[in-house]
Amino acid sequence: MYWTKKFAIIIAAALMLGMTVPKAGAQTKSTPSATDEKSWWRNAVFYEIYPRSFADSNNDGIGDLKGITAHLDYLKDLGVDAIWLTPCFPSPQVDFGYDISDYEAIDPKYGTMADFDHLIAEANKRQIRVLLDMVMNHTSDKHKWFLQSESSKNNPYRDWYVWQDGKGETATSPGEPPNNWQSAFGGSAWQWDDKTRQYYYHKFYAQQPDLNWNNPKVHQAFKDIIAFWLKKGVAGFRFDAITTLFEDPQMRDEAVKKDKNGNPIMREGEPELDDTMTNNLPGVHTVMAEMRQEADKFSTDKFPGTRVFIGETYLPNIAELLKQYGTPEHPEFQLPMDTQIGFINKLDVSAFRSKIENAEVDLGDNVPLLVFDNHDNPRLDARYGDGVHDTDIERVISTVLFASRDAALFYYGDEIGMKTTPPASKEDVKDPVGLRFWPTFKGRDGERTPMQWTPGPNAGFDGPTAKPWLPVPPNASTINVQTEKGDPNSLLTWYQELIRLKKTNTAFSEGADTMIDTANTKVLSWKREAPGVPPVVVTLNFTAEPQTVNLVGAGLPDGTLNTLLKTPGATNPDSLKAIKLGPYGVYIGQLQFMMSH
Ligand code: GLC
Repeated sequence: MYWTKKFAIIIAAALMLGMTVPKAGAQTKSTPSATDEKSWWRNAVFYEIYPRSFADSNNDGIGDLKGITAHLDYLKDLGVDAIWLTPCFPSPQVDFGYDISDYEAIDPKYGTMADFDHLIAEANKRQIRVLLDMVMNHTSDKHKWFLQSESSKNNPYRDWYVWQDGKGETATSPGEPPNNWQSAFGGSAWQWDDKTRQYYYHKFYAQQPDLNWNNPKVHQAFKDIIAFWLKKGVAGFRFDAITTLFEDPQMRDEAVKKDKNGNPIMREGEPELDDTMTNNLPGVHTVMAEMRQEADKFSTDKFPGTRVFIGETYLPNIAELLKQYGTPEHPEFQLPMDTQIGFINKLDVSAFRSKIENAEVDLGDNVPLLVFDNHDNPRLDARYGDGVHDTDIERVISTVLFASRDAALFYYGDEIGMKTTPPASKEDVKDPVGLRFWPTFKGRDGERTPMQWTPGPNAGFDGPTAKPWLPVPPNASTINVQTEKGDPNSLLTWYQELIRLKKTNTAFSEGADTMIDTANTKVLSWKREAPGVPPVVVTLNFTAEPQTVNLVGAGLPDGTLNTLLKTPGATNPDSLKAIKLGPYGVYIGQLQFMMSH
């Protein structure tokens, strides 16, 4: 399900034998996968930065590259292995950078190419890798390719985009759009061009015309763009809206979704459509295998470090997600996002259990990429919080993120518990989709507010006299890096501790996940087991009431636990028989024995 559909919803034993006492220190080591150039990404922690909102070095109200560079030590301290920057290329900024007008330059709003090179150099000094956003579905309507394409039907760039005749056109009227396809941002996906008297297709805003991926020249153009950035030392890309690259060649109408009485399901005055004609068409696999082949040329001894492909892959099920990894002969993404776990949007133990199990079992040796938050969805508080225990719930969610077998991706500000702050009035809205659907959907500004660094003016995002592009939420006086840093009970410290465990505890960095106590509907528990080290148990209370769990007989023998991490106020359990959890409490402990394998 694509994320724009999501907003509608928001608006809506193992053998217990052979126990041995581990040698001192055997349970922790520096994980090889974190440093190994080839497999650095397998247990990596990725941090999404929305450059506009992270840190503003020149007080123009808009975050920039120098601002990011100035905060690299913070990211290092947090344990981040790689940052993904949402688009910072030249753009008219209709979709805040997702409408790109030049793929091989930096938008002056964010700095210069020299600033970018400096950011990479400084990040690399700290063993932090930099990934960029690669938008291949569409360009800006101000990109030189589109300017050419729209100039005449005979222009060599005409077939770089998706042009179609209207239905029933006359000399005086454009007639009807070629079919019923809708833009993800509302309305028809077809825009009439008066000059050349044809419609062009846009899955997103009309200022974001879709490229024609049936044209081999488009493939070559993107291979060149990818090579351009890889030569500069970027560690990979997050591929935007990647499942929407192709459309049905016959341009057939999408089916209208029906309710159980057979009536069309309406959303904001328009019928909701299926998206089988415009989403997840098979051609995308060929393109991604081709792009990966290009990138792998830069994963050699001459260019050390595997270049990694992350996919924005909102998909209906695990089988579809599995396909995105490609095959050993034709690999595609190393890390297509598993949005099925992160966007359950409800603390439902059984749903979490089965989705995590799916990722563990069905993806085989592939690494799941878990992600719970991004710049397109309300933050965690709005999707999982209850308004009373939000920070505790954020601890639960972050534990799923970092204590599962996965690569973990999170969004700037999650680590301090930044909250969704939608615009107060329509006049304040910046995201065009929020203007269109106000007030049912207020757009995505609420999850893009400035990073909260200090309790001071403008939360330290920029100088006291500057005017940040989106207002700083009043809660910045308590929710900010400066206040939370060093506080043993803060969410920031919790994130740091979890990441430290992920990196240093072998069961955590390498162990398989196995769900335990699987009949429990209130507490989610699993164990992590790696050869040669004692297993770790993770147990999370998904309710506001205290719970006690007995994990003996749930796949584990009784034994003493060595506490690795627990939520503030929790007690150390005497045994696996009675782990006591407070409301939304978390307990992580290592058993004092090894399992035989
Ligand atoms: C992706 C981006 C979103 C953008 C859209 C169109 O979903 O995450 O921010 O609006 O693609 O590029």
